[in-house]
Order: sequence, then structure tokens, then C-alpha cells
Amino acid sequence: MAASLSRYLVEQQRAKQNIPPELRLLLEVVARACKGISHAVNKGALGGVLGSAHSENIQGEVQKKLDIIANEVLIEANEWGGHLAAMASEEMDTIYVVPNRYPQGEYLLLFDPLDGSSNIDVNVSIGTIFSVLKKPESSDKVTESDFLQPGRAQVAAGYCVYGPQTTLVLTVGDGVAMFTLDREQGSFVLTQENVRIPEDTREFAINMSNMRHWDKPVADYIAECLAGSSGPRGKDFNMRWVASMVADVHRILTRGGVFMYPWDKREPDKPGKLRLMYEANPMGWLVEQAGGMATNGNQRILDIQPTLLHQRVSVFLGSKNEVARVTAMHQTA
Ligand code: AHG
Ligand code: MN
Ligand code: MN
Repeated sequence: MAASLSRYLVEQQRAKQNIPPELRLLLEVVARACKGISHAVNKGALGGVLGSAHSENIQGEVQKKLDIIANEVLIEANEWGGHLAAMASEEMDTIYVVPNRYPQGEYLLLFDPLDGSSNIDVNVSIGTIFSVLKKPESSDKVTESDFLQPGRAQVAAGYCVYGPQTTLVLTVGDGVAMFTLDREQGSFVLTQENVRIPEDTREFAINMSNMRHWDKPVADYIAECLAGSSGPRGKDFNMRWVASMVADVHRILTRGGVFMYPWDKREPDKPGKLRLMYEANPMGWLVEQAGGMATNGNQRILDIQPTLLHQRVSVFLGSKNEVARVTAMHQTA
């Protein structure tokens, strides 16, 4: 019989001692929350979950009903178990400390509860992204600064994509594993281990409508790709842009590719659109764990020292040789 997520977690701990019981509980609870979100997503209009919530998050983005529902599902699932000290989310201005009525654990959980919000109402793949850190030992009362750790300090990271299938993708620092939700059984079943991203690719993902706002290295790199077999790259490229990072990264983990959301001139004071702590760091680590590469054009994403919970970042990730190339073009610019 195919292994369940629970069995995978137990056997990982037995073999590698990298998933202590509290972390296992945390990951099982996150998976259960994702099942709940998947259920709500699937109901769509029948569940009254589509449309706007007519509110804004701290980033000035209009929240969809499902952004808020997913956020609540994750908090309610995680607050009582005793495994967490606090949580942080795209949809909350500051951290959510586990209430006094529950015991406090040693982990910190960060999430983008619903990634790809613009795709909810149009029935295109969306997802949940999460990152797990340890509360620093020196810290007594948990504060926002306890979360400001570089991505290389993550102890677990993953996402769940709600598409034609619901798939949970996880790393605890020993490669990447994928689990498909079996709806009849109600459990996530291990469907792929040792996920590897091919080092070379002919597929890129970027929002081309921003072309006129890009910096020169990005414009030069895309021009090379577009020139195809008669250009400097000597090969034709294909393009994909789902506009849900989870779905674009899932494609890259499955068949390779390069994903870019660079800084651009629309908002020159912001380093990019995507958020470091709960989008770029978990995705960057997953990609590295699958043999790919993730940078902000200048440095490894996982080495960036965060200074703000909702900090933004430029993102280049995916097949190693392409990410290395576009990163090198930033160095020589
Ligand atoms: P979110 O829905 O959590 O705010 O994230 C959306 C992000 C990311 O998933 C996607 O790659 C990107 O925004 C799409 O941006 P554009 O609409 O600018 O293409
Ligand atoms: Mn997102
Ligand atoms: Mn989101």
C-alpha cells in the first residue's frame, strides 16, 4: 500500500532524526488545514466562498473571501496543539501569538494562506505556502523579531496546490516529496520522492506585460530567450505564466523551467512584488532541495537577512543553469 504522509513523517524521523514529534504534529496539522481549504475551494460558488471580502491586507491588496477563510482555517487548526509559539501570515499585519489558554511550543509557522488570489474566481489553480522556523532559544516572550531569520534556518517548508489534483509538496531538508490527496480516504498519499528539477530548460515564466518596467539584465535575458534558435541561446523557448506562484513552481518541480518576478519600475521603492518570508523562502528552499537554484539576482534568497515580516524580494528560481545565467547577467550589468 502506498505510504501516507503520516508514515513518511515517522519513517523520515526514524532514518534521519529530522522530524521530532512536535514538528510531525505541526506538519500533520498543516496538512489537515490544507484539506479543509481544498474542500472550501472545491465547493466554489456552492459554498459561497467566491468573491471579494471588501477589506484590505497590510500590503494594500483587496482580500478575497477565500484569503480570509484559508487564514482562519490555518490559525484554528494550529493554535491548540502546543507545537507553536506564534504564526505569521500574508493576511495579518503582525504575528499571532498562541493564546494563553493553550501551551506554547517551540516552532514558528509562516504562511501565505491562499496564493494566486486573482485566480480563485476563475477556477484556476491556487495554493497555500508555508514555512517553519524554530523560535530562537534566547527568546522568552515571542516577538516579531523572532521571525526575522534567513531562509536557510527553515526546518520545514512546503505548499499545497489546489488544482485538478490537490498536491502537498514538502521538504524537511532531505529532498522534496509530493503527496496527492485521496479524497475517498481523506488522506495525503506519497506519490513522488526525490523530486529533481532538470538543470536545463526551454521554458520561462514571467509576466510579460511588465516588460517596459524591467531592469536591463532582465530585459536582456528575456530578449535572448525570445530570439530562439537563431539568437545567442540557439534554442526556442516556451512561455507559461499561471499567475499563481504555487502553480508555476509546481510545474517547475515537475518538468523544469525558470520563474521570475523581478523588481520593476512600477514600484521602484519596493524590492519586488513577492514576499520573502512566506513566498520566496519556502519556495526557494524547495527548489534548492530539488537541485535547482533561487536568487534575487544578486544573492541566494535563503541567505537574505530579513528586516521586516512582510518584506518583498525579487525572485529568480528554477532550473539551475538558467537561474545561474540570469543571475550572472545582473553581476555584469
Ligand atoms: P497572492 O495571491 O498571495 O497575493 O500572490 C500572488 C502572486 C503570485 O502567486 C503570482 O506569481 C503573482 O502574484 C502574480 O502577479 P501578477 O498578477 O502581477 O502577474
Ligand atoms: Mn502569494
Ligand atoms: Mn495570498
